[in-house]
Amino acid sequence: MTKLGVNIDHIATIRQARRALEPDPVAAAILAELAGADGITVHLRGDRRHIQDSDVLRLRETVTTRLNLEMAATAEMARIACELRPDQATLVPENPSEVSTEGGLNVAGAMEPISAVIKALSAKGIQVSLFIDPDPQQIDASAGLGVPMIELCTKAFSEACPRSPDLAGPALERELTKVVQASERGKKLGLNILAGHGLTYRNVRLISSIPEIEELNIGHNIIARASLVGMERAVREMLQAM
Ligand code: PXP
Repeated sequence: MTKLGVNIDHIATIRQARRALEPDPVAAAILAELAGADGITVHLRGDRRHIQDSDVLRLRETVTTRLNLEMAATAEMARIACELRPDQATLVPENPSEVSTEGGLNVAGAMEPISAVIKALSAKGIQVSLFIDPDPQQIDASAGLGVPMIELCTKAFSEACPRSPDLAGPALERELTKVVQASERGKKLGLNILAGHGLTYRNVRLISSIPEIEELNIGHNIIARASLVGMERAVREMLQAM
């Protein structure tokens, strides 16, 4: 069965909207694990827009599955990760003006700096994953760097399928084929294949049924649904509290 890593960044986004104490991403991590999540993912961004340094420290103490730290390949993040020792670190591109990660890391275009960060993390026993587009050049470059796994970016696939797959146009088949072919290529090169970004309850089946893909990282759509399926109960509880 395909594993699920739950990305809880947007629990912190809600908290940071008020600089309040709640909701606490650590509580969300515990609930996600109780529900069967195979791992917890957080992105400690350079701009600290959601997850904070104190969150990753508390998550390291609490998470009993796999803690996956998404990070830019910078000296600051490499230092933090080497001290924190998450089970896994996923190197992602970062642009301060982006709303969310915009695509995969250009591994082929920056082999040296990325390789230095991979070496530093690997020396501390951290498994390194590279978040890349489903592009043959990026897959081959990632395999060349000796990482055990890659995460294929499903942003273009998800954008081609914002609603039910039967309502999507020809771009869906094209983007799905790219993910299928990239998974096969990566697997042949000995890489473990993960995928994620923009996946929804409606489009996830198309990706989770690709046999080479072992794990999906999903955040926004789970947090979005949680906020709505919990709404009635939350309102009833406030009425009771009043
Ligand atoms: N994987 C990576 C590398 C990401 O950067 C993100 C977004 O933070 C995700 C997966 C999850 O994407 P989403 O929140 O759209 O499910």
